[in-house]
Amino acid sequence: MISIRLKCPATTANLGAGFDIFGLALKEPYDVIEVEKSSSGIEIQVEGYDVPKNPEGNTGGYVALRMIRDFAIDSGVKLRIIKRIKPGSGLGSSAATAAGAAYALNEIFQLNLSLDTLVEYASLGEIVSAGAAHADNVAPALYGGFTIIASRKPLKVLNFKPPEVGIVVALPHVEKGSTRIAREVIPKHVPLEHVVRNIAYASTFVAGMISGNVDLIKMGMNDCIVEPARAEACIFRGFTLFKEAGVKIGAGVAASGAGPAVIGLIEKHLVDRLYDAFEKICNTLGVDYTLYKTEPGNGISKL
Ligand code: HSE
Repeated sequence: MISIRLKCPATTANLGAGFDIFGLALKEPYDVIEVEKSSSGIEIQVEGYDVPKNPEGNTGGYVALRMIRDFAIDSGVKLRIIKRIKPGSGLGSSAATAAGAAYALNEIFQLNLSLDTLVEYASLGEIVSAGAAHADNVAPALYGGFTIIASRKPLKVLNFKPPEVGIVVALPHVEKGSTRIAREVIPKHVPLEHVVRNIAYASTFVAGMISGNVDLIKMGMNDCIVEPARAEACIFRGFTLFKEAGVKIGAGVAASGAGPAVIGLIEKHLVDRLYDAFEKICNTLGVDYTLYKTEPGNGISKL
């Protein structure tokens, strides 16, 4: 094989208390990435939302550099990234590119790497955008469905098929600081009481995901450590309004990754109710928004 064309999904991470642990692949939006074997070096073309084209500054380029070096590959690659997931949105835009590059190089150079090894390589791409090799977006991008980073060293990913639910993402058109900045505002020390509450939220969320009980999923979509710190640092817009709307209409609401996107989750047949509630909030906030009506999706696939 000398080239491959891939559909790389958006992902939402954290989902409440699962900071750097929980991730979910989304059906919409997604990027397309085309990777072609070349004689040497790494060349990057970008269409759609702009992202860096130098290999060291691009999450996919960086992954390709590392894999070419580690596996002593004596050729190069051309990456054509059709970027439809807004960078810096909290929807795993950097992860989609990083995971796409890892998947593509594995196929093109017949490396026969396991999915977990691809997650490891793809997570290196996150260093470029977030300053940390967090794996909670690249894991669902590769596996699809709901993923739990059960262990980081050595990496162990748990993967579950989520129940059918409706999801609405509200993405404000504001310039967010980088994920790096959103990570710097997180407290380094937290009261035990908050840790206990977050363990309860996370356990409830996982119980719901595995048993298919949507009420438990919604109940678990809370966080009293990372989200409040980021909300206070103004990383999210109108976060309290979205959370209040969730309580009112019976939806789970959480920041999507490091924001600024906010995600709502509800029974599939009630998704329009959630969409309307989020749309009303967006209209009162005085900034433009993109609203996605979506659902859990698959991992990277060939086109
Ligand atoms: N877990 C990461 C964070 C996800 O919250 O910083 C970034 O999308």
